[in-house]
Amino acid sequence: MYAQMVKSTGRGVKSPEEMTPEERAFQARIDADEKIEPRDWMPDGYRKNLIRQIGQHAHSEIVGQLPEGNWITRAPTLERKMILLAKVQDEAGHGLYLYAAAETLGVSRDAMTEDLLSGRMKYSSIFNYPTLTWADMGAVGWLVDGAAIMNQVPLQRTSYGPYARAMVRICKEESFHQRQGFDIMMKMAQGSPAQKRMAQDALNRFWYPSLMMFGPSDATSVHSAQSMAWRIKINSNDELRQKFVDQTVPQAEYLGLTVPDDGLAWNAEKGGYDFTEPDWEEFFAVLKGDGPCNAERLQARQKAWDDGAWVREGLLAHGRKRRAAGIAAQ
Ligand code: 3HC
Repeated sequence: MYAQMVKSTGRGVKSPEEMTPEERAFQARIDADEKIEPRDWMPDGYRKNLIRQIGQHAHSEIVGQLPEGNWITRAPTLERKMILLAKVQDEAGHGLYLYAAAETLGVSRDAMTEDLLSGRMKYSSIFNYPTLTWADMGAVGWLVDGAAIMNQVPLQRTSYGPYARAMVRICKEESFHQRQGFDIMMKMAQGSPAQKRMAQDALNRFWYPSLMMFGPSDATSVHSAQSMAWRIKINSNDELRQKFVDQTVPQAEYLGLTVPDDGLAWNAEKGGYDFTEPDWEEFFAVLKGDGPCNAERLQARQKAWDDGAWVREGLLAHGRKRRAAGIAAQ
């Protein structure tokens, strides 16, 4: 639905001749690698596309707390519990930086949340898969946060200043998340045969959903061409997916685990792995709401939104009282 709202930012990137003088000047700033700041003039499509991407990213951080939060009380040791708790809190912080970055574009957090709850905005497909065992906490940190970093490190150089700056801190924390996940996988893979089987099972279930995090293939990506022209995205979906596979396969080998892809083979000519594409039908079904956990995730967000209504109302009432008291004092 959002894709329809930003149709002008679809694949048809305007040529310089088609641009207005303002758009040409804007594009020149982007091409010169200047940061765009909230008060600067920007094309409407740039603003909408950023709100869409940053908002989706913020929602992903918040919804992403659900499958992991579920394991805090079941973490095997006090140390693991503390680490997982800290990680889940970090994700809440990431959501807040990103909502704040999107708000600088003139959209409220309330409006974005309502768009999430009504299905007009998305969150990452990965969080519609269940976390069934403790090894899944390892796989989520290693693969899901690993895929997130692969995407987000380049976003530190994205053209919109508040988004780029939010990504700097997020990436530092995500890299800790990725390492804690790998550490869990290592313990499991080097543990008892049953623990190693759990680690392998987690890799089997999370491998393809992690590859899907990078979005559809470049050939079917709606936004990539315009987003890359505006440097909202730095790399294409397929480029990042390839980099992720190339980085992760040797890590799986180090763990003594097998990537669940019979088509995986080193291609010396391209200097990367050939691999089997994810099942794109499954991906689009999950995006439409038909993944294993879509309904559960949205119900949890709806409940949190409803339960928090009194806090939002209380804060607004407090703000009104303070303003009235300030005016009376003057
Ligand atoms: N999950 C859900 N929706 C997805 C998706 C995914 N994995 N990949 C693509 N889509 C959606 C797009 O949002 C778009 O739908 P829309 O028009 O309704 O918004 C549609 O599929 C077509 O895809 P495009 O390739 O045209 O979309 P983009 O150019 O936006 O590329 C993206 C998709 C690579 C995910 C890009 O939006 C992006 O880089 N976003 C910023 C990073 C981000 O959102 N990361 C979330 C990861 S989870 C996370 O960070 C939490 C951490 O704790 C692990």
